[in-house]
Amino acid sequence: MSNIVLIGPMGSGKSTVGAALARRLGRPHVDTDHFFVARHGPIREYFSVHGEEAFRAAEERLVAQLLDSPRPSVVSLGGGSVMSAATRELLKSQFVVMLDVTEAQAKARIGDAATRPVLTEGTSAPPIERWKHIYAEREPLYRECADLIVSATETTIEDRAETIIEAM
Ligand code: S3P
Repeated sequence: MSNIVLIGPMGSGKSTVGAALARRLGRPHVDTDHFFVARHGPIREYFSVHGEEAFRAAEERLVAQLLDSPRPSVVSLGGGSVMSAATRELLKSQFVVMLDVTEAQAKARIGDAATRPVLTEGTSAPPIERWKHIYAEREPLYRECADLIVSATETTIEDRAETIIEAM
């Protein structure tokens, strides 16, 4: 049985929906950002010391390890993981769910963007402006990888988890 992998932009609820889904299914929940922080320290610091390219390479390696889990799990990926061609290839053998989100929802959820350097580094624009730009770039990749797209109108976290279970 493959993993259920949640993808989507920052603020789409990958971690919270992933936790709810895992609880309902009795599967482990693996959040790749949390593993990254446990292994390498805070993402913002990693970015400022090593740069984004090194972050992406380390993220790609970590995602490959975590997808190769001995037990079928629910895996929430960082929003930029789909930029890696190697990761997209691995996703072909997983059940992949894209969580969609509206701009207004994302704006409310990304807060001050303190933990997300891609929204603030090299720009003085408001984080939501950077978010929109990044989402426009990545949306085709999310759609290409997804077996299921859960729309932003599935309001509560539990509703979204239920929609995924029904579609499996
Ligand atoms: C990133 C998203 C973040 C985290 C890192 C980079 C991105 O994860 O991996 O800050 O490039 O979209 P979330 O999508 O969980 O916020």
